[in-house]
Amino acid sequence: MRIAVVGSGYVGLVAGACFAELGHDVLLVDNDERKLAELQRGECPIHEKFLPELLERHHGKRLGFTGDLAEAVRRSEVIFVAVGTPPKDDGDADLSYVESVAQGIACAIDDYKVVVEKSTVPVYTNSWVRKIMLLNGAPAELFDVVSNPEFLREGTAVADFLYPDRIVVGADTDRCAEVVARAYQPLTDGSYYKQPDAIPGPVTGAFEANLIRTSAKSAELIKHASNAFLAMKISFINAVASVCEAVGADVEQVREGIGSDSRIGRRFLSPGIGYGGSCFPKDLLAFRSVARENGCHFGLLDETVRVNEEQRNRFMRKVHKALWTLKGKKLAVLGLAFKNGTDDLRESPAVAIIKSLLKEGCSITAYDPAAMDRAAEEFGPNSAVKFATSSYEALEGADACLVLTEWEDFAALDLGRIKQLLRYPIVVDGRNLFCPALMEAAGLNYYSVGRPDVVRERPATITSLKEAAKNEAA
Ligand code: UGA
Repeated sequence: MRIAVVGSGYVGLVAGACFAELGHDVLLVDNDERKLAELQRGECPIHEKFLPELLERHHGKRLGFTGDLAEAVRRSEVIFVAVGTPPKDDGDADLSYVESVAQGIACAIDDYKVVVEKSTVPVYTNSWVRKIMLLNGAPAELFDVVSNPEFLREGTAVADFLYPDRIVVGADTDRCAEVVARAYQPLTDGSYYKQPDAIPGPVTGAFEANLIRTSAKSAELIKHASNAFLAMKISFINAVASVCEAVGADVEQVREGIGSDSRIGRRFLSPGIGYGGSCFPKDLLAFRSVARENGCHFGLLDETVRVNEEQRNRFMRKVHKALWTLKGKKLAVLGLAFKNGTDDLRESPAVAIIKSLLKEGCSITAYDPAAMDRAAEEFGPNSAVKFATSSYEALEGADACLVLTEWEDFAALDLGRIKQLLRYPIVVDGRNLFCPALMEAAGLNYYSVGRPDVVRERPATITSLKEAAKNEAA
């Protein structure tokens, strides 16, 4: 099939490269000239597993890049719209990019086209795109608009696209549903997985992706509701972690106990410093806004957001508890990206925490396996954040080590060496990467989320002092 993908951000670039991988002839459209030039030179602008391989495999053959939307529309049977929908101040999604692409498509349309919204958009966007196209002169019989939300995660986006849990096609006519289904056919009939050079994925043996056909409005809601549910799971376990801290239980044991109920499941139950990224924070606000505008009270969403924000404050309180005063302290920060496997800093809880630490007068030496270049841009050359070339270098002479992103590399660090390099043996772990018993054995004071603190030399309490005095008198 001839496919156009408009927008070469995470979703558009991955979708475009993957459609080329499925055998289609793909033209990716972007109006950012710098990005286009990068892609045309064969560079991969984001850190995403298997994406460089796919770009190299298909660039100049089944995958091209252009700034000309009209040309891309005219040559394509189906146009996937994957432009940004950033949040406005009131939490609503800003749909102006979607609108201007719809105008552009309408002006170029010369034959039947299927326009597919792939960006995460609120319910009713589908009907608005249709209205805008009609207002801009596109004849009603020459197009249909389909909602086909994307569920890929950064870091595993290519595998998520090629081995999806489900493909949702929200289409109000059979004609357009059939066109979109055809684009995914190598996944739904399983033929892609039989190819010897198929990108490896999480399943072995025969696999056929599941395609769910819904109405356009339902598809739009499925995307928001899925992200809201996952974010709610994270806030739920974070709230449970706070109760664990209050009563002296261990959230990792509690998590294992609840997660092994197959109705609940273990995934997305890792406690930490709260969710970040370009999706959950934005989508929660947008979904809440949709619910409010339509007269629905959805307090669960408010509480999910509140717990998430509170989680960062709780982490700051732990740092205070471990170090007492913060002014003038030199801290090693491991992890900057909003999660592991990506160089993305958008809405990263690590960045928010570093900014709070800077306000308190700390100086920071940070290390992240992928996000250092972006972080250098974020903090600028004159900030009190310096960057190390390895975790161990960041730790050298620091008053404490703070773990802010769940990179596997950090979990594999040599604990003896951590102790030796730090000025004080203090680790505050926002991602529960280490086992408290091993930290204790290594002689480290260890503060994590929802688990008892490991403090080697406990400060004297009134009771212990009284007891010691009694013993002495006796
Ligand atoms: C999320 C969804 O997982 C995707 O299904 C969806 O397609 C995507 O948003 C989107 O809407 O485009 P992503 O933002 O890449 O994907 O990241 P996640 O893997 O979901 O992680 C989000 C945040 O939650 C991270 O900050 C991560 O550290 C945190 N998290 C995740 C936890 O704190 N605990 C967990 O158990 C899982």
